[in-house]
Amino acid sequence: MKSIPKPAPVQGDMDWFVDARFGMFIHWGLYALPARHEWIMQREEIPVEEYEKYFKFFHPDLFDPKAWARMAREAGMKYLVITSKHHEGFCLFDSQFTDYKATNTPCGKDLIKEVVDAFRAEGLRVGFYYSLIDWHHPEFPIDAMHAMRNHPDATKLNESRDMAKYREYMKNQVRELLTNYGHIDIMWFDFSYPGARLHELGGKGKDDWGSEEILALVRELQPHAIVDNRLDLPPEKADIHTPEQFQPREWVTVDGKPVYWETCQTFSGSWGYHRDESTWKSPEQLIRMLIDSVSCGGNLLMNVGPTARGLFDPRARDALAVYRDWMAVHSRSIYGCTQSAFSPPEHCRLTQNGDRLYVHIYAWPFRHLHLDGMAGKVEYAQLLHDASEVFFKEDADTARNTLTLELPVEKPGVVVPVVELFLK
Ligand code: GLC
Repeated sequence: MKSIPKPAPVQGDMDWFVDARFGMFIHWGLYALPARHEWIMQREEIPVEEYEKYFKFFHPDLFDPKAWARMAREAGMKYLVITSKHHEGFCLFDSQFTDYKATNTPCGKDLIKEVVDAFRAEGLRVGFYYSLIDWHHPEFPIDAMHAMRNHPDATKLNESRDMAKYREYMKNQVRELLTNYGHIDIMWFDFSYPGARLHELGGKGKDDWGSEEILALVRELQPHAIVDNRLDLPPEKADIHTPEQFQPREWVTVDGKPVYWETCQTFSGSWGYHRDESTWKSPEQLIRMLIDSVSCGGNLLMNVGPTARGLFDPRARDALAVYRDWMAVHSRSIYGCTQSAFSPPEHCRLTQNGDRLYVHIYAWPFRHLHLDGMAGKVEYAQLLHDASEVFFKEDADTARNTLTLELPVEKPGVVVPVVELFLK
């Protein structure tokens, strides 16, 4: 048996987080209108004045946060992280420190307030994504990643931009987010790139952002809040580490030490609503991402990019329904579970919660599933989705100590079947 990794204690409240395992990410902003990726301003090098047409036409008339929250809850998600501001600089919340906010668009609402209320009402916890990057703010110096990075006068334009003023702006906004919206469970800052270089332009890191001060502010205002690892501070200052768009195959470590972690993933290849992107993940991929995360001791933060009408588009609703249907009968193998000290059989993933061991079967075998090392350890076995008994045989005579499950020939009609083992 392997030992189960144990992260060093951190400041944020991790108890609920490791229990919850599954959250919803929401990326929403003006980029929902061009509907071709949330980095569109940067990728297409769109000048601020031109991009502002999306501000003028932002009118999500079908916005129904209660419906979003219901879908998240039904999918089995236990928390929300929503973009309060993304790299484009547009604020979904009613900030005193900018006019570039949802309340000044035809939408006219503090979208963050409404979303937060709706998700809390469905029993979910709430966190804010806040972009350190801001391609709209006039004091934010043009850097190697900026929308104006190829502007011939970039260096000259920077002479009149003052990062200290932008730092102040960020601090003010973080204070607003952590004082005007009640108990906030996560602050998810994004992101640092100190090593970036282009022409004479550099990147930005902890000294540019004033990361120490930002972190101190969070700790002061909401000491329980979980803070991510993208402020470019030493890794032990972060509560969670956030691998993006890939599935770790083992417990995530930093400098050889296990950490609390959460992978963030998309339904298709974009965070913001993307009309023409078609790499939507299959039901198997969606469910496996969740299982793979928990089987390595991590969380899954799954993203939805609502449309500019304010709806989850049908493809996103279908993907959420995949989680809803699977979680309705399998959440016991997810909530409160973590990596197991036992080794999984081929094509399987294990999760464990105390004396319950969950075998997630990715490739349905013909009748027998052999669990080496498990003979004599199991009191009872059943398929999790219908609690139907699974017989097993034990062979304690060989060195392998194999326990063999006797499965039906036909794969049960769920995306990934799970056998629940009650350990002695
Ligand atoms: C990236 C991207 C971004 C997205 C984020 C989510 O860093 O800049 O668009 O919000 O990842 O993890």
